[in-house]
Amino acid sequence: MRLTVSVIGAGGKMGTRITNNLAKHENYNLLFCEKSEQGIIGIEERGFEVTPTEKAVKQSDVVILAVPDTLLGTISKQIVPLLRTGSVLLTLDPAAAYADELALRDECTFVVAHPCHPSVFAEKFTPEEHADAFGGVAAKQDIVAALYKGEEEKYNIGEQVAIHMYAPVETCHRITVEQMAILEPTAAEVVTGSVAVVLKETLDQVVKMGVPEPAAKAFILGHVQICLSVVFRGTNPFSDACQVAIDYGLEEIYKSDWKNIFEKEALDKVITRMLN
Ligand SMILES: NC(=O)c1ccc[n+]([C@@H]2O[C@H](COP(=O)([O-])OP(=O)(O)OC[C@H]3O[C@@H](n4cnc5c(N)ncnc54)[C@H](O)[C@@H]3O)[C@@H](O)[C@H]2O)c1
Repeated sequence: MRLTVSVIGAGGKMGTRITNNLAKHENYNLLFCEKSEQGIIGIEERGFEVTPTEKAVKQSDVVILAVPDTLLGTISKQIVPLLRTGSVLLTLDPAAAYADELALRDECTFVVAHPCHPSVFAEKFTPEEHADAFGGVAAKQDIVAALYKGEEEKYNIGEQVAIHMYAPVETCHRITVEQMAILEPTAAEVVTGSVAVVLKETLDQVVKMGVPEPAAKAFILGHVQICLSVVFRGTNPFSDACQVAIDYGLEEIYKSDWKNIFEKEALDKVITRMLN
């Protein structure tokens, strides 16, 4: 089935990535919508042309909102009334849907799809796969998708477009919007992102204390891999002394009630902050 797909924000970071992938598919009539001068120049430099948003949305089977999350409420209020009956609105992050900030319409279907990014344990064979940490270029990744509101049959269209726009995709995991919000921001950003920052601050700290940077970097990044491997894959157990040091770190670094960040109030708080 040939589908007309509009990408709003087609010149942004995600807009560029996903339109590069969707443009490879002959069954999509792809329309690029963008507001900023820089974004428009980028689209034209890639050899595409920009279509006025209203004209594009009115003829689209699928409209993708690749705009900043802080603008999703306002922009969806402008776009949703223009959608064709039976069309699909696809957003790339659960925050606005979770916070009930997306404008909705009974005759349309609303889908959210987010990339998992290539796993640290994924098999990678080529330099291009190794270089593709984000995914969507050469390295395989899984994605998650949720039907926020609307018809099951239309969800399948949204999911198929999501698989193509985040390609190469290994598996699309169907979850709910609430589950996606637990994964992002809480699991992915609040926890994993802050741990990554702590690791970089650890590197800076030991270098400040006199450890040569190349040695410190090799040591820390090597230990990131082996620690993840032991904890997630049970490759080889930590030594008894190592386990003592890990328990000491858990006690000293984390508040005993840190898992409160998974409570609904905490999730609401961080999403409100992100959307404002
Ligand atoms: N950047 C990432 O790593 C990443 C990863 C996964 C999901 N996402 C999600 O993707 C979405 C877009 O994020 P991004 O990082 O690409 O943002 P971005 O700021 O890079 O791009 C947004 C684009 O939207 C354009 N825009 C803004 N208002 C517009 C309007 N009214 N009409 C047309 N274009 C308009 C901007 O000019 C810009 O080019 C968000 O929902 C975000 O959560 C981002």
